[in-house]
Amino acid sequence: MSLNAAQNQSAPTGHSPSDSGKALYGGKSTRRITVHDIAAATARGEKWPMLTAYDAMTASVFDEAGIPVLLVGDSMGNCHLGYETTVPVTMDEITMLSAAVVRGTKRALVVGDLPFGSYQEGPVQALRSATRLVKEAGVGAVKLEGGERSLDQIRLLVESGIPVMAHIGLTPQSVNAMGYRVQGRGEEGAHQLLRDAKAVQDAGAFAVVLELVPAELAAEITRTLHIPTVGIGAGPDTDAQVLVYTDMVGLTGGKVPRFTKQYADLRRVMGDAAKEFAGEVVGGTFPAPEHTFH
Ligand code: KIV
Repeated sequence: MSLNAAQNQSAPTGHSPSDSGKALYGGKSTRRITVHDIAAATARGEKWPMLTAYDAMTASVFDEAGIPVLLVGDSMGNCHLGYETTVPVTMDEITMLSAAVVRGTKRALVVGDLPFGSYQEGPVQALRSATRLVKEAGVGAVKLEGGERSLDQIRLLVESGIPVMAHIGLTPQSVNAMGYRVQGRGEEGAHQLLRDAKAVQDAGAFAVVLELVPAELAAEITRTLHIPTVGIGAGPDTDAQVLVYTDMVGLTGGKVPRFTKQYADLRRVMGDAAKEFAGEVVGGTFPAPEHTFH
């Protein structure tokens, strides 16, 4: 949604998100954030951050930092479980780690990703998988990939009371067919992406991730939709931004995508800590008297 449209709709003159105790990021409310809070923030023209999380402790750090939405993404495949892609991730894995993230948080809306093979057969399979994530893990919403091709799934989940975040543009579960490249280039590509975005909104999705999309097209989609767009590699004009947390804190080894930004160097910090510990064990200075019982 465009900022101007949002301001015309709801915000009193002079309102800025940081004035508000209701703000999604920096707000004072301690209750669990819902999809209604997300819609209200977008109507106020507020931008918001989303991060992935795959375990209770990391999730609690981000929750305490005020991150309003945590995605238990199937990026756990590459970033947590040691797979090459997201494709092998299973419902058992996503359910177990989503439950951990819910247990580690008090305020964040936790969104569980539906992994490859858990919804492509059709709406009934999607409902069975999403129901498991809601009942066993306690997530507040689910995410699934695909625009027009996933509409029946989105409709049934929403009708059944499960909020859905859609995901279009680059959809990593289709990497074997699509590769990793910018989507929506050229006139037909852009039209298809715009059709996908409108279709998932009409089917009832409460938000849509735009991954690896030209910035101008992401801006146009954001102006066109009334639900929030969540960008990753989609330029600065989406309503929200998401990063994979291991990229954001510098844990990911090797090459990271150009669209990501590293805000810390945890790989170095953890490596240094491990070497210092090892040196003290080998040198006999750990444990010291203060770590020892008699
Ligand atoms: O699985 C994931 O982390 C994602 C984000 C990149 C949006 O889908």
